[in-house]
Amino acid sequence: MNGTVQISSKRLLLRRVTLKDVDILHHELGCNPEMIRYTCWNPYATLESTRIKVENDIQGYGKAGCYAWIIQCGENVIGTIGAYEYDPEMSSIELGYSIFQKYWGQGFATEAAGEVVRYLIMDERINRVHAWCHADNAGSAKVLAHAGLKQEGLLRQAMKNPDGSYSDQKIFGIVREDYIS
Ligand SMILES: CC(C)(COP(=O)(O)OP(=O)(O)OC[C@H]1O[C@@H](n2cnc3c(N)ncnc32)[C@H](O)[C@@H]1OP(=O)(O)O)[C@@H](O)C(=O)NCCC(=O)NCCS
Repeated sequence: MNGTVQISSKRLLLRRVTLKDVDILHHELGCNPEMIRYTCWNPYATLESTRIKVENDIQGYGKAGCYAWIIQCGENVIGTIGAYEYDPEMSSIELGYSIFQKYWGQGFATEAAGEVVRYLIMDERINRVHAWCHADNAGSAKVLAHAGLKQEGLLRQAMKNPDGSYSDQKIFGIVREDYIS
């Protein structure tokens, strides 16, 4: 496995994260409540937690099955995409991504997710890529569908919202035989 290699697509460059990215990740992902509205999880909330997350990602580059990319469009950092919880026995991995709010609605998540799903299944030879999203996260559900993932289930009230209420969680997945057919 080659891990987090640089990937280029039509408009985007996916590259490894560095400590120079800490400030922008904290500012764009950690300080905007819109970014965690549907994820209910914020490792970028403080500069310190962002630095720890980035250091963990960098350390992960030495291990099999750890994927963490910065998404760039030209010179601009516009988001992150990664794959986590690699299970070598099951040859499966979980996909996740965020695009900074000022770049929403331009097809960037769709483009990045499509590239990463292709890379994980075809180049890294991982059999199954799965993902979850908040039942109200219509944009993310479309991104996953565009990348070829099918909705496989719905976990009822499996997510806790920032206001303490519960919401359903959609589960998506794709396996290699779907991808090549
Ligand atoms: C979800 C997210 C990644 C989408 O990024 P994006 O670059 O705006 O997505 P795209 O431009 O590729 O849009 C894909 C589709 O979703 C639609 N869409 C995007 N945001 C939407 C929204 N808020 N409501 C409804 N549809 C939306 C787009 O119109 C597009 O539809 P189309 O394929 O019919 O044209 C982005 O909103 C985000 O980072 N949100 C916060 C973090 C997050 O939720 N991450 C995912 C966790 S599961």
